[in-house]
Amino acid sequence: MATEHIKRAIADALRQLGVQNPEVSLEHPDDLSHGDYATNVALRYAKELKVNPKKLADDIVRYIELQKISFVEKVETAGVGFINFYLSQEFFAESIKEVLQKKDDFGRNNIGKGKKVIVEFSSPNIAKPFTIGHLRSTIIGDAVAKTLSVLGFSVIRDNHLGDWGTQFGKMIVAIKKWGDIHKIAENAAPVRELVDLYIRFHAEAKTNPALEDEAREWFVKLEKGDAEARGLWKQCVAWSMKEFEGLYKRLGVSFDTMHGESFFEDKMQAVMKELEQKKLLKESEGAQLVFFPNEILPPLMILKKDGGTLYATRDLATDAWRKKEYGNGVTIINETGGEQSLYFRQIFMLEEMLGWFKSNERVHIGHGLTRGKEGKMSTREGNTIWLEEVLDEAVKRAEAINKDTAEIVGIGSLKFNDLKREAKQDIVFDWNDVLNMKGDSGPYLQYSYARAMSVLRKSPPQLRRGAESTRRGGGVNELEHLLYRFPEIVERAGREYAPHFIATYLIELAGAFNGWYAKERILDAGEETKYRLALTAAFAQVMKNGLWLLGITAPEKM
Ligand code: ARG
Repeated sequence: MATEHIKRAIADALRQLGVQNPEVSLEHPDDLSHGDYATNVALRYAKELKVNPKKLADDIVRYIELQKISFVEKVETAGVGFINFYLSQEFFAESIKEVLQKKDDFGRNNIGKGKKVIVEFSSPNIAKPFTIGHLRSTIIGDAVAKTLSVLGFSVIRDNHLGDWGTQFGKMIVAIKKWGDIHKIAENAAPVRELVDLYIRFHAEAKTNPALEDEAREWFVKLEKGDAEARGLWKQCVAWSMKEFEGLYKRLGVSFDTMHGESFFEDKMQAVMKELEQKKLLKESEGAQLVFFPNEILPPLMILKKDGGTLYATRDLATDAWRKKEYGNGVTIINETGGEQSLYFRQIFMLEEMLGWFKSNERVHIGHGLTRGKEGKMSTREGNTIWLEEVLDEAVKRAEAINKDTAEIVGIGSLKFNDLKREAKQDIVFDWNDVLNMKGDSGPYLQYSYARAMSVLRKSPPQLRRGAESTRRGGGVNELEHLLYRFPEIVERAGREYAPHFIATYLIELAGAFNGWYAKERILDAGEETKYRLALTAAFAQVMKNGLWLLGITAPEKM
């Protein structure tokens, strides 16, 4: 609101000064001492108007002063021609009031009204470990889905399970040869047995290549609906799902749909036909490939020379189905490891060539790798990291902070450690960072929230309301400069599919609150108490709303 108003005032001033169609950029300066907003329009248009930028800035300032914008306290020229805006105490009092009125809805808007978005995330593989990479996808995807939903989009949260492919032929052979169904079923963690069997398959296949042929045969049987093959496959799916569901419950993440790759088995034929009709397939050494114009991307294989389908074939069938199911204009986001970026560029381009989607309707969020500092992430012999153990370790470490909140603080710390950086960045995992109470961590944010809640609990109830009208003596504080920006931050995080903007904002906000808390009294501050409590309540509200978007619980006590 303030942003638009100020932009308009600047544009008016520029028009008065002779600019035909002014384009106005307005930013929040990094340094709060430079005001709440700054613009560089004077530097930008000085040449065109043939004046000195500093002089142009002064002229713009004068025009704006004449307009007497009620919520602008001061406008001034700075440096070589920047213009800084300082918002007024009334503005801040109003914005605090708005936070306290809108409560959990503060930060919502409806830019996405009437638009559908599928956020596909997590997508672990059946009979394989739920990896740290799938954890990243789960955390990032959940935050993106939540952010888009508060922006008014109608969001479909989809888990695209890896439950199909030639690996199931291998799995079946391994179970039949070396496994014992009853023993696996009785194991508390059946997936671990499956993974061991899978590893054994690969070890033995090195000296006994006939195993690979057997596996291929079993996969063909599975595809054809052979009862024994289907039965074993279903078992694998059920064991894995049980484990995954436990993890999702702990992570507090849910899905609207869980169509695994197998769901699209019978939907590939139609895609193959369409590709043929549109003359997009080319044979090469017996396989069917799509070649891209001017070879801007490497060719994409759609059908193997033995007629077998691939990951890509299933993805195309998936998106064709989604388009039919959810209608034209649906946007599809795939959250996966960054190593699939090239693959998704191929898929997106092909889907454009097919006329299915416009380029902005297909989005890939590719997350970076997680590396352990000195291999400390691995809690078990070998390379496999079992996520359950990582979650347990986080919770165990969080017990040192407070036993009662250990689960939400432990889980929250892992989520925040992920979301505080851009998805594409790698993570060098260090438990000391993850649970560092002093900054840049989930526990630090949760603690600042609990601290605010504790102040509010201690305050006299009659002072907790109606603080908006209270006049204050002291200057505007940093917290006020940040609180009103929350909706802008949420919007940006949604538009750019980048929850880290929310995370870094919350760090700044918590810093402002903690700094203020350390310096000033909140209770027993005489006339000021009412307003300070309102500010504390507004801080707590925004922190809670922000943490919610990141999938992190805000504890009342800690
Ligand atoms: N299951 C895959 C993996 O673990 C991720 C699936 C991503 N989604 C897709 N539509 N391809 O790598």
